[in-house]
Amino acid sequence: MAGQLEGKVAIITGTGSGMGRAAAELFAREGAKVVGCEINKARGEEVAAAVTANGGEMISLQPVDLSKAEGASQLTTFALDNYGRVDILYNNAAMAYFDFFPDMTYETFSKTMREEVDIVFHLTREVWPHMVKQGGGSIINKGSIAARIGARAQGALAHTAAKGAVVAMTRQLAAEGSPHKIRVNSISPGFIRSAQTEPFIKDPAVMESLSQSFLVQRPGEPEEVAACALYLASDQSGYVTGADFLVDGGYTAV
Ligand SMILES: NC(=O)c1ccc[n+]([C@@H]2O[C@H](COP(=O)([O-])OP(=O)(O)OC[C@H]3O[C@@H](n4cnc5c(N)ncnc54)[C@H](O)[C@@H]3O)[C@@H](O)[C@H]2O)c1
Repeated sequence: MAGQLEGKVAIITGTGSGMGRAAAELFAREGAKVVGCEINKARGEEVAAAVTANGGEMISLQPVDLSKAEGASQLTTFALDNYGRVDILYNNAAMAYFDFFPDMTYETFSKTMREEVDIVFHLTREVWPHMVKQGGGSIINKGSIAARIGARAQGALAHTAAKGAVVAMTRQLAAEGSPHKIRVNSISPGFIRSAQTEPFIKDPAVMESLSQSFLVQRPGEPEEVAACALYLASDQSGYVTGADFLVDGGYTAV
């Protein structure tokens, strides 16, 4: 049976770890030609090799810093040189920095904005004209529950501002993409197992306090977010654009 993404070219950012890796594995199993990338060379190479060893099609560019315009341009050229088109852009990669206000410096704030917001702007801007030329595409941005709720236990001012911006940008890009058949949606995960969250998952006190807020009382798995990304990438979601999908175990519902 043909996969849901058979023959489609999918750029996924930050494929060396967590949700980016899970999406690369799933998209490749569903028949996509995956274009991965990483700021971390070893992790990027390792995942591309693992996906290929499992029979999937994946190439990957590393090291590349997508928070800079040159990085976004390099990655787009890499995808086009190899496959000649881009059908899916999954803006997954980001890095946030935390400190309580007002200890949070402007440097920390603006670095987070660069690595969570500029990173979406630069690559989307590079890929967009090619999707317009092709007659459409699907863009998936990575938001967060931080776009909707604050956190008492975390100095998340920069992160909330950044992810709020990404979710707002998603709606505007969907509006501007509509005449070109470019659909743009975001996924806002809650607390998902990854390199960044593993230290919290290992701390019983943190997990005890968090579990009281989850309706599904456990951390999410990267594969559960990849399943949502697959839906948004595929033609199954042809009537969905400008939406933000919460994959948060009900965290923001109560
Ligand atoms: N883990 C969670 O609980 C959670 C919750 C909400 C949102 N998110 C968001 O989901 C996305 C993925 O998170 P994750 O937990 O899988 O993280 P992760 O750290 O496991 O993976 C992100 C990958 O992106 C790469 N990366 C970061 N900045 C980059 C850059 N400038 N250029 C190229 N590569 C870069 C990293 O090296 C890393 O391998 C991020 O946007 C994050 O903000 C995570």
